[in-house]
Amino acid sequence: MAVILITTLMLALVAVQGERNWNFDNTDAVRGPSHWKDSYPGCGGKRQSPVSIKTDESEQQSELEEFVLTNYDNTVPSLTLTNNGDRVKVLVNGGKPKLSGGGLGFAYEMSQFHFHWSTNNKRGSEHKIDDDEYAGELHIGHLKQGSNAADAYADPQGIAILAVLLKAGGSEDHPAYEKIFQYLDKIENASNEYEMPSFVLRDLLPSNLHKYYRYNGSRAEPPCEEAAIWTIFHEPVTLSDNQFERLRQLKNKDKFLLHNNRPVAPLYDRKIYISWRKHSKEGVADNCNGLKVSKSFIITVVIMAFLKQLT
Ligand SMILES: *[C@@H]1O[C@H](CO)[C@@H](O)[C@H](O)[C@H]1NC(C)=O
Ligand SMILES: *[C@@H]1O[C@H](CO)[C@@H](O)[C@H](O)[C@H]1NC(C)=O
Repeated sequence: MAVILITTLMLALVAVQGERNWNFDNTDAVRGPSHWKDSYPGCGGKRQSPVSIKTDESEQQSELEEFVLTNYDNTVPSLTLTNNGDRVKVLVNGGKPKLSGGGLGFAYEMSQFHFHWSTNNKRGSEHKIDDDEYAGELHIGHLKQGSNAADAYADPQGIAILAVLLKAGGSEDHPAYEKIFQYLDKIENASNEYEMPSFVLRDLLPSNLHKYYRYNGSRAEPPCEEAAIWTIFHEPVTLSDNQFERLRQLKNKDKFLLHNNRPVAPLYDRKIYISWRKHSKEGVADNCNGLKVSKSFIITVVIMAFLKQLT
């Protein structure tokens, strides 16, 4: 009883202060990620994101063909860069790029994209691939064509999210990401907004769009609606360390935004699919592997026979 009362009082206090009753602080015993489900039961569901992906436990699915990207190569009419208090978010206004194909049953329209990062380059991505965490992750959110956000969030296939894993250590600033990051000083403080010049959003994606992971998941923030079809591209994009450093200069009040990735959720009975055929170098034996061995074996035999003739 006392606990409920105290929790209620704390939530009320939070509401009065105009702050959200959730955050990304794993040490916060009331508002941290493991307590989101106390206020938002959806966050404790069985189809939550992000997840830890194991390539060799994933299955190839032939329906996961190429994506059809429409308007991705045009500049959109306007982009609003925002600091929403824990992340950098860019709202896509008008003339929205469209996404279809890629094993998606519907067409989707881009609505926003945002970045996740953390205190240092060893962590920051939301998804983990074969136990690797990347320095950051870009999420490009798309709503089912013809749906508003509320309808899409209530639909098990209402949103399609493209995730790009971001690596640190690039020798120079990534030019497309710099089109956004050059304006980060304009959104230094929480709720700052800046109408930034538009650019070709396709340039944020990796060059290989054929290899990707696919699973059914959720929005990765409260109320964690289980409405998302996730695509995580296999090929990461590399940014410079300085670009990550500049993300860490952003603030909410007097605090730097240093950590905004949700911990991975259990997979439960979900499957993760991959769009490509696994090869031996990813640790999985298949026919291709056997073929390679026998080819090199044949070549060796031929060379040995040839050398024997010479002697
Ligand atoms: C952010 O807030 C600080 C402290 O109030 C202020 O000095 C600075 O100019 C603000 N930055 C922007 C981009 O508004
Ligand atoms: C996602 O859920 C739908 C509906 O249940 C199902 O048809 C589809 O195969 C699932 N996709 C994945 C990648 O699990």
